[in-house]
Amino acid sequence: MGPKNRLIVALDVDTQKKALDLCDKLKGEVVAVKIGSELFSSCGPSVVEAVIKNGVKVFLDLKFHDIPNTVSKAVLSATRLGVFMVNVHALGGYEMMKKASESVMIEAQRMKIEKPKLIAVTILTSMDEKALKKVGIDDNINREVLRLAVLAKDAGLDGVVASPKETALIRQKLGKDFIIVTPGVRPTWTEAQDQKRIATPADAIRDGASFIVVGRPVIEAPDPAGAARRILKEIGQ
Ligand code: C5P
Repeated sequence: MGPKNRLIVALDVDTQKKALDLCDKLKGEVVAVKIGSELFSSCGPSVVEAVIKNGVKVFLDLKFHDIPNTVSKAVLSATRLGVFMVNVHALGGYEMMKKASESVMIEAQRMKIEKPKLIAVTILTSMDEKALKKVGIDDNINREVLRLAVLAKDAGLDGVVASPKETALIRQKLGKDFIIVTPGVRPTWTEAQDQKRIATPADAIRDGASFIVVGRPVIEAPDPAGAARRILKEIGQ
């Protein structure tokens, strides 16, 4: 896969106009853009449709976490929107992930479209071991992340979201075809901002990331397309 097929830019903005302006600039430099809760809650599904209509693929990052029936319907709706990738929380359990996976597959077959990639969030990178203990999870974070990644794969999911710290471990354990989407990526020429466990684009790819997610270093740059090209160059090297 070439560098352009590896970069996902997080469209963390609050209006459709800002989102579409960024898409115009980034088209051709990225494999997809990520639409998360902020933009989706501001603009709704119409922003997803508008971006796709503009020729840019969408990773719908809404991290569904609910009972199996509800999540399977949510990912079915995402499939109908035509997204490239969508995610759920692995902590929703095996049954939930399996039902979601079947629902995406059946709907994509019915629509005769390529199946959206369904991936799972294992443990949010904002949680440390102390925070996990407070919610009753006593295990070491790496073991817990791996356990949830294996569960996601067993349930038929295509991959997981993982911090740079966990990427190599998951790649080693789950093989080369399992998708790993890695946020918390910072090129050497930018600030870490609030991201703590960061890696450079090249390191993340070297550790086994299938896709890297970069937000502010691109969308807040004076020249977003130029920033994206700099990242692609770093990956290429
Ligand atoms: O601006 P920045 O590059 O930090 O943005 C990273 C994006 O990836 C944000 O949309 C953030 O919500 C998301 N993300 C993350 N860490 C995770 C999961 C998602 O930073 N574990």
